[in-house]
Amino acid sequence: MSNTKNGAASKTTQILPATMPTTRVLAMPADTNAAGDIFGGWIMSQVDIAASIAAHRYAGTRAVTVAVNSFQFRKPVYVGDLISCYASVKKVGNTSITVFVEVYAERDRQQVEVVKVTEATLTFVAIDENGKPQAVRALD
Ligand SMILES: CC(C)(COP(=O)(O)OP(=O)(O)OC[C@H]1O[C@@H](n2cnc3c(N)ncnc32)[C@H](O)[C@@H]1OP(=O)(O)O)[C@@H](O)C(=O)NCCC(=O)NCCS
Repeated sequence: MSNTKNGAASKTTQILPATMPTTRVLAMPADTNAAGDIFGGWIMSQVDIAASIAAHRYAGTRAVTVAVNSFQFRKPVYVGDLISCYASVKKVGNTSITVFVEVYAERDRQQVEVVKVTEATLTFVAIDENGKPQAVRALD
């Protein structure tokens, strides 16, 4: 527990990474499962979008998801949470780009309660205009 500016007790659990998030989106009621929490498939979709942005930027060309190597839902996501996805290229092969994604939820959108909710690793393949794998530059 810590104190906010106005002295109220808060549940600061984590701070957001210092870097810019790849994506930020608000979890909405339409994204819930039958129990009322945010649907895991919606979170997977957000992760795939963020990872694809990082892969596309790295490749400089279209990159398609070939595999979801790991995916861990660490904490639930609730309606109203502000979701930030941080995607970074971790490994590069001949045509493949492996991206690590961390997802944080701000429970009140003001960084008072920040929770890491998901971690995932996905692999993309850079493709040419015919949909065929094409080589990418090696990781620095
Ligand atoms: C991605 C795709 C073009 C790859 O074509 P392919 O002929 O199978 O390519 P290859 O077997 O040569 O593999 C290409 C690279 O992907 C890697 N790869 C393939 N399957 C993989 C897997 N399951 N996990 C990790 N990497 C994998 C290979 O190791 C290779 O990496 P490298 O070039 O860095 O050594 C093809 O599988 C495809 O079009 N898949 C559908 C993609 C899609 O629709 N995604 C969802 C929407 S974006």
